[in-house]
Amino acid sequence: MIVSSVNYKGGTGKSTIAQNLAVAFSLKGYKVCIVDADGTGATMDWSEDRHELELEPVIMVSHLTNPASFTSQVKALYNDGGYDLLIIDCPPALSPVAVKAMSISDYLFIPINTTGGNDIKVTQKLLKEFQKIREIKEDNGGKVEAYLLANGYKKNVILHESVIKIMDQLCAYYKVKRFKTVVHNRVIYGEASMKGRGVVELDNRKATLEVGQLVKEILAMAGN
Ligand SMILES: Nc1ncnc2c1ncn2[C@@H]1O[C@H](COP(=O)(O)OP(=O)(O)O)[C@@H](O)[C@H]1O
Ligand SMILES: [Mg+2]
Repeated sequence: MIVSSVNYKGGTGKSTIAQNLAVAFSLKGYKVCIVDADGTGATMDWSEDRHELELEPVIMVSHLTNPASFTSQVKALYNDGGYDLLIIDCPPALSPVAVKAMSISDYLFIPINTTGGNDIKVTQKLLKEFQKIREIKEDNGGKVEAYLLANGYKKNVILHESVIKIMDQLCAYYKVKRFKTVVHNRVIYGEASMKGRGVVELDNRKATLEVGQLVKEILAMAGN
């Protein structure tokens, strides 16, 4: 399946989620690759660190940012590579590449910071675009589903609880879902990313459990 880790807002955890899911699914034996569709190349850098450290499993990362060839390049990569899972790490903008990524995806994973700011407003713009994409896909006999993912959550912070409630309202309005797994604010996510790793490769029980729970939800979502 092809999945986009997408939000028009920067810093919501798109790259973090893409990297951590790629590692976790690879360790489970799935053949996974990432398309880094962001010009800044954060996940490309992550993959170079991984390569230099000779970490296994090896995770293929391709930097594809040209909107004109994006769809054909991603499809060729997915089909020729025989991947079980291709994750597109999207740029933080309402850009042609992000729209194309959503259009070729089976699922969108939409991380949202529970820390407030304008994440919700930006996500609404994304969901409006998603509605159009879903309609076109369904008219052509296809399918795409979107899942919101609460990220950066801190327990006992009223604001964070309120943001999750608003996320659930968005789900009802736009007919999308929310992962029940909530990704907590943990220093280890930043540390893992700096070290070319996923949190499951570092010694952190809580983060490892959290990502494991998300993987289970994704497998259930995909009917596995
Ligand atoms: N759950 C989390 N806990 C702590 N830090 C996080 C978490 N998720 C992301 N971060 C950090 O927040 C910053 C932005 O995350 P990133 O994945 O790069 O966002 P995006 O790709 O959406 O711009 C990074 O420094 C990352 O390490
Ligand atoms: Mg990013």
